[in-house]
Amino acid sequence: MARTQGQLLQSEKMVAVGQLAAGVAHEINNPIGFVTSNLGSLKAYVSQLLEVIDAFQPLRDVLPATDARRQKLEQACDKADLDYLRQDIGELIDESSAGLLRVSKIVQGLKDFARVDESDWQMADINAALESTINVARSELKYKATMVRNYGQLPPVRCLAAQLNQVFLNLLINAVQAIEDHGTITLTTGSGQTMVWIEISDTGCGMGEDVQRRIFEPFYTTKPVGKGTGLGLSISWDIVVDRHRGTIGVASEPGRGTCFRIELPVSGASGG
Ligand SMILES: Nc1ncnc2c1ncn2[C@@H]1O[C@H](COP(=O)(O)OP(=O)(O)OP(=O)(O)O)[C@@H](O)[C@H]1O
Ligand SMILES: [Mg+2]
Repeated sequence: MARTQGQLLQSEKMVAVGQLAAGVAHEINNPIGFVTSNLGSLKAYVSQLLEVIDAFQPLRDVLPATDARRQKLEQACDKADLDYLRQDIGELIDESSAGLLRVSKIVQGLKDFARVDESDWQMADINAALESTINVARSELKYKATMVRNYGQLPPVRCLAAQLNQVFLNLLINAVQAIEDHGTITLTTGSGQTMVWIEISDTGCGMGEDVQRRIFEPFYTTKPVGKGTGLGLSISWDIVVDRHRGTIGVASEPGRGTCFRIELPVSGASGG
């Protein structure tokens, strides 16, 4: 009883965190929009200013070298290191624009992932859902795992997309945590007559049969205190099996790696 309650709480907490993240992402979008647009204008203005400065150059050279106005101009140009400015300003603005583009992609990724506007049953592209999950987990994945994608052609699946994203995230994080130094995580998808399947495999530490038998139990974890709560897979089981009437299974070998396989009915759980 206490376990089920804890599991529910955790599940709700994750939804709340997802909504919070999506709300923040939404708010960030607005300033990103105008800063991006301002930077574009700034770049154009700066290049116009530089043209004006270039146009003045011959005038300066017309003045005799002893003219105070010419000396003042020359000093100002030297002080500003005009050639350097000219080159660096463009690079600064370009780098800033690239940084903004990255931020806006992260924000878009968060929005795709949480799908707050559509938290109900809907038709979803599972390959796209996997991509948005990879996007969200990218900072965890990038140094530890090479990602391999073998996506098949999939029909749209009727599902609770935000919750499935949570499942994919749990499996991806487990995979990366199972890898000690560097490994490979492979995502494979395909479809049958009335279902689609997703396999997430890693070249991590793997697990013995005694562990495999218990992984879907709430609070079962082999990770040190503070690292794992042991809820990821039990919540995933609840989402896949209880809510979607799908299946989730595991194949693993200690020292070689692990493969989780999910099957989902294309038409969603009939109970909806
Ligand atoms: N890809 C994997 N490779 C090896 N072991 C795994 C893998 N995925 C899960 N496990 C094992 O299953 C256990 C339970 O996983 P689960 O995701 O439910 O909890 P957790 O990862 O320990 O904690 P949490 O997900 O709550 O942070 C893990 O502690 C680990 O021992
Ligand atoms: Mg986990």
